[in-house]
Amino acid sequence: NTTKMVKICCIGAGYVGGPTMAVIALKCPSIEVAVVDISISRITAWNSDQLPIYEPGLEEVVKQCRGRNLFFSTNVEKHISEADIIFVSVNTPTKTRGLGAGKAADLTYWESAARMIADVSKSNKIVVEKSTVPVKTAEAIEKILSHNSKGISYQILSNPEFLAEGTAIQDLLNPDRVLIGGRETPGGQKAIKALKDVYAHWVPEDRIISTNLWSAELSKLAANAFLAQRISSVNAMSALCEATGADVSEVSHAIGKDSRIGPKFLNASVGFGGSCFQKDILNLIYICECNGLPEVANYWKQVIKVNDYQKNRFVNRVVASMFNTVSGKKIAILGFAFKKDTGDTRETPAIDVCKGLLGDKASLSIYDPQVTGDQIQREISMNKFDWDHPVHLQPMSPTSVKQVNVVWDPYEATRDAHGICILTEWDEFKTLDYQRIFNNMQKPAFVFDGRNIVNIEKLREIGFIVYSIGKPLDPWLKDMPAIA
Ligand code: UDX
Ligand code: UDX
Ligand code: ADP
Repeated sequence: NTTKMVKICCIGAGYVGGPTMAVIALKCPSIEVAVVDISISRITAWNSDQLPIYEPGLEEVVKQCRGRNLFFSTNVEKHISEADIIFVSVNTPTKTRGLGAGKAADLTYWESAARMIADVSKSNKIVVEKSTVPVKTAEAIEKILSHNSKGISYQILSNPEFLAEGTAIQDLLNPDRVLIGGRETPGGQKAIKALKDVYAHWVPEDRIISTNLWSAELSKLAANAFLAQRISSVNAMSALCEATGADVSEVSHAIGKDSRIGPKFLNASVGFGGSCFQKDILNLIYICECNGLPEVANYWKQVIKVNDYQKNRFVNRVVASMFNTVSGKKIAILGFAFKKDTGDTRETPAIDVCKGLLGDKASLSIYDPQVTGDQIQREISMNKFDWDHPVHLQPMSPTSVKQVNVVWDPYEATRDAHGICILTEWDEFKTLDYQRIFNNMQKPAFVFDGRNIVNIEKLREIGFIVYSIGKPLDPWLKDMPAIA
């Protein structure tokens, strides 16, 4: 029956579900796409001029499709029951309590989505795992659905999303690959084909890979673990570079020329952040431990330990350079998002750096072009892993509130400051008027570049004492060694 319009429903209108469905709607005018969420405010925002997430190019795509074949709704039940293909892209935070706390993925939202599907479905469905989940989640979902099936047939597919924030639309329009895992049964293969047909509207056939369910689920965790491992590897090298006088950018460039290593993702930084890397590695570690593989678990644990070490090392550099105390000193923080071109602050290294400096009683003035003061205050006052559990929010102590000031202008943030920490690589930080900034700062004036974006020579000419990750040290810093 070729005349019937295929209907897609996506449960979860977040960073993954929203942009992914917008691009499917853009590229497949013959498919009706409904994105549903239990959060009324999120759906309202998706239907307004002020989208709930900032992503270059997203607004244009949404404006083109919204109301045509792309709909945002809180009517979860209606759209699930009408859909042929249901994407599940709800959040899967790290568990904060109970078995596996701090490591295992919390599948509460997933389970409730699956039970909802079982409740309201009246026709056969293809259910697609979009959010990253532990290996074998598909099996659990299959069980929930088949035990409540009322004669309906369900096919479960794993179709992990590899988009990176800040480049989501480009990544979706031109993906390196689309991965679809399914059962090796005729029904499973038919479901894979149906999903393939959706992507084939714009993705070349040879980039659509199909595997079994478990390979697809594990590939997502593995890809994020490998990427994070590259950053921890280069960050580990950056510490050695500072100790020896080598320059980490030169080392990255040199090793990246080896085609077996490749040039991408080798930028030393204050540490990686984002909602995926740490969460997925913790999850991988948990799976290894549950499967009796402690050596493998310990190998991946080290990636997170080096990342924590790098953030600490940065704070120690700042404090050590400024005569071993930042107490009462104003420090400007430029950039709070976990990377440029996003307003997302989940697991951003800025949280740990700010907390570290506040721990030494610094007074912070923070500027980020995409992050609001409320969001920054919330992140700094939260405990680790609390971001997805706002119920447990703890009120910030009155002293911390006083010590954190969020402003909308980099020149105001840096006025009368003793030092500047650059924590996000926003392009605009490359072209600031650093002479003007220097003139209005306390002396000696410090710049701590956690993203290696400033022109060190130029800044030193102006008079700044400059620290850049993994670069030969300023004589000043050599005299003020940091104990990591
Ligand atoms: C990541 C994966 O790239 C993506 O494929 C997956 O779907 C989700 O997780 P994302 O977290 O959005 O995407 O951003 P990414 O560009 O991977 O950056 C993650 C963190 O690593 C950021 O904090 C970034 O600043 C840092 N990073 C990245 C570095 O410190 N150095 C680099 O060379 C690259
Ligand atoms: C290596 C480096 O490749 C080379 O650049 C350097 O100059 C010297 O060290 P070599 O030891 O000769 O060269 O061989 P290589 O091809 O790198 O293999 C090293 C080991 O890794 C071998 O035992 C190989 O079997 C193993 N290997 C390689 C794997 O197990 N899996 C792989 O995917 C690749
Ligand atoms: P991601 O980065 O993986 O996209 P987000 O947290 O941005 O994660 O988005 C997940 C979305 O899923 C949230 O907007 C949340 O309200 C929604 N959600 C969670 N559980 C359900 C559910 N059972 N039904 C509908 N939406 C849900």
